[in-house]
Amino acid sequence: MRFTVAIDGPAAAGKGTISKAVAKEFGFAHLDTGALYRAVGVKAASGMDPVEAAQTLTPADTVGEALRTLEAGQAASKVAVIPEVRAALLEFQRRFADQEGGAVLDGRDIGTVICPNADVKLFVTASAEVRAHRRWLELGGDEAEVLAQVKERDDRDMNRADAPLRPAVDAILIDTSDLSIDAAVALATAAIRAKLA
Ligand code: DC
Repeated sequence: MRFTVAIDGPAAAGKGTISKAVAKEFGFAHLDTGALYRAVGVKAASGMDPVEAAQTLTPADTVGEALRTLEAGQAASKVAVIPEVRAALLEFQRRFADQEGGAVLDGRDIGTVICPNADVKLFVTASAEVRAHRRWLELGGDEAEVLAQVKERDDRDMNRADAPLRPAVDAILIDTSDLSIDAAVALATAAIRAKLA
């Protein structure tokens, strides 16, 4: 069986948590596509050409704590505007989506560009303040600075020319500003179960 779930949305909206939970619930494979861009961003920040970094990326590059910092998020968002970087990562994501047994991909352009025919598309969002507060609880630092970075990244991700962050026309919107994790996961699970039925 092939079944693709596309989960898009801005930073810290809850995509990752929801994706992991539904992948576990349905036994689907999960790809955090942000990790691909973070890995490219970190390599570019240390001097490598971003297009070459994307073209030569290995699975081992896409794991590790160094990818989870605010700086890695910013670096990812900067290389993500480069069309050649996006093109280099496209095939890998599509192949992952097309695997036997079902797949969940989370990112910014999964429902719009990578998997326009996904079986279920979710757009997970929350206010910038709520998202910044979550990131700050996770990473610490100055909360006002975290909010400024969240807004800067939203702005870059939504306004780039190639594959900007936006909900697919057929995406189900989940606003997690006032939802518990369990409630958000329950909404996502119900949408997938309805489609599988
Ligand atoms: O989901 P994340 O915070 O790990 O993503 C980091 C950055 O990578 C994000 O700000 C923009 C970019 N990105 C993208 O352009 N397309 C994706 N499918 C996933 C992430």
